[in-house]
Amino acid sequence: MEKPQAKLPAGDAAPAPVERAARPKRQVLLCPGPVMTSLHVKAALARPDACHREPEFSELLSMVRAKLLHALGLGGRYTAAVVNGSGTAALESAVLAACEPPRKLLVINNGVYGSRIARIAKIHGIPLVEIRSPITERPDLNRVSAALKRARDVGTVAMVHHETSTGILNPVEEVGALAEKYRRRFLVDAISSLGAEKLDLAKAHVDFCVGSAGKALHGAPGLAFVLAAQEESARVLKLKPRSLYLDLGTMLQAQDAGDPPFTPAVPLIAAFHAALDELIREGVKGRTIKYRQRALFLRSGFKKLGLAFVLDEKIMSNSLTSLWVPKWLTYQQLHDRLKRAGYVIYAGQSELKGKIFRVAHMGGLLQSDLDGFLKSLKVVTAPPVAAANTK
Ligand SMILES: Cc1ncc(COP(=O)(O)O)c(C=O)c1O
Repeated sequence: MEKPQAKLPAGDAAPAPVERAARPKRQVLLCPGPVMTSLHVKAALARPDACHREPEFSELLSMVRAKLLHALGLGGRYTAAVVNGSGTAALESAVLAACEPPRKLLVINNGVYGSRIARIAKIHGIPLVEIRSPITERPDLNRVSAALKRARDVGTVAMVHHETSTGILNPVEEVGALAEKYRRRFLVDAISSLGAEKLDLAKAHVDFCVGSAGKALHGAPGLAFVLAAQEESARVLKLKPRSLYLDLGTMLQAQDAGDPPFTPAVPLIAAFHAALDELIREGVKGRTIKYRQRALFLRSGFKKLGLAFVLDEKIMSNSLTSLWVPKWLTYQQLHDRLKRAGYVIYAGQSELKGKIFRVAHMGGLLQSDLDGFLKSLKVVTAPPVAAANTK
């Protein structure tokens, strides 16, 4: 018979040597989330376990909500609900809160994420009108204006600020002015732009803004949030829930009371807190400038390598560049060769799948990461001798 143990096993306090050896190597992530996180954020993820029914957690959550509003300069005019789940969870929650059928949702759609808003509406039986534009173009404001004038049954307008499927920066302020003129609610998916772009929510008349912790705000992936204008959050509290888990009113009420109805992602919230402290120190303006500088640096490097942009440079965001895959390579070859060198790029989606590649410059990238990437890209995209001669 086995002897009873005098002491409990050490558990996972110290990793076994084999686990240490299996620790993955650092890769440079050039995808639009998850992003490279700082040591401070990683340390917050690994802090001692905590229970969400204790006052320490309530305090952490209220600090996250307050610091988020403070970092984005929204104090007093908006309220924040932290959402367990990725950006899409928060988007679904915001669409449900912003739309009151039978009034319709008008979606301004020029990419994969615009289509996602429309898909959410369809799944929930929200009547839909779409203004679609080609994936490489900004929406035509005259069409938006005409649609709002014509369709009086539209209650809400929704759009994506940074359409990450291509890197287009869409005209939120201009559409917001139209939504305000025709007195419609306005919902913006700013999942990949908050922190990276200038965006004044109040000036753009945004009622609901959806964001994610794990992109340009530099938190860990899997946590998102909805920012609701004060008067909208008061309205939402009175709505009949159309989802158990994603009802924004339930979330706001529970988070205000410090009593989450479902188990929150405690380590992700702690990591977001650490990321927000860093953002507050840096300032959104400082971060936006840093992203712009990275974009200019990389784009000038891409041009020197003879790579072609998918978009007109004037409509590109600060945080992502999409490029045509050179004719002599497949996307997979390009991806795999760069990955072997330590760099993770991102594929095209939908009609651009296999044709383009995306390079996001979000998160805690170092200048040496950008230099090294351009060097590897030069080697990997060099035309074969025969292709070079026929150029
Ligand atoms: C603009 C935009 N909206 C929505 C999403 C979906 O977010 P998630 O994949 O975190 O659910 C993304 C993801 O990249 C995005 O960039």
